[in-house]
Amino acid sequence: MVVQGLHVLAGVVWAGGQVVMGVAVLPALLRLPPREARVLLDALGARVGPLMALSGMAVLVLGILRGTWLGPVRSLHVLLETPYGWTFTAAIALAVVGAVHGSRSEARLAALFEGEAFHPAAGRRLAADAGFVVSVVVGLVACMVLMHFGL
Ligand code: HEM
Repeated sequence: MVVQGLHVLAGVVWAGGQVVMGVAVLPALLRLPPREARVLLDALGARVGPLMALSGMAVLVLGILRGTWLGPVRSLHVLLETPYGWTFTAAIALAVVGAVHGSRSEARLAALFEGEAFHPAAGRRLAADAGFVVSVVVGLVACMVLMHFGL
């Protein structure tokens, strides 16, 4: 119960944070003068970066505990040969993909600028990033729904 509650809480913070940053906050920064956008981006990164890293790690660790220690994935047979095990593996893979993507955000955000100006492709890059992040989150939520029904 505690593990499940903390898992859901961390999941909501991580997934919500990813979607709001990708879909709303970062695109809004492109409407600011580039110099101000850079200052705000640095300030946001200092706060949002650790929160996303911590909540993302918590989602993964607590999710693994929920599925193994407190769930049905107690053998390689269940992991490799049942729909629940496949969905569980897919959730871990998606979370790792999301974590790797997140860990590279600093470089991707730096690429939004070209000297003192925005890079001409900044808007397109942010839109592609947001699409990627939303896809990972939707995939993860789909996995949670499937596992809820034992699949
Ligand atoms: C976007 C990130 C995630 C969110 C928002 C999320 C959310 C949730 C929610 C709301 C539940 C409760 C479902 C229910 O009551 O039936 C749940 C259950 C669960 N989650 Fe996640 N989760 C996320 C990521 C993960 C990951 C990465 C894993 C794997 C490591 C995982 C493993 C599990 C397991 C095993 C359950 C129990 C499913 C069951 O047997 O009913 N979750 N999650």
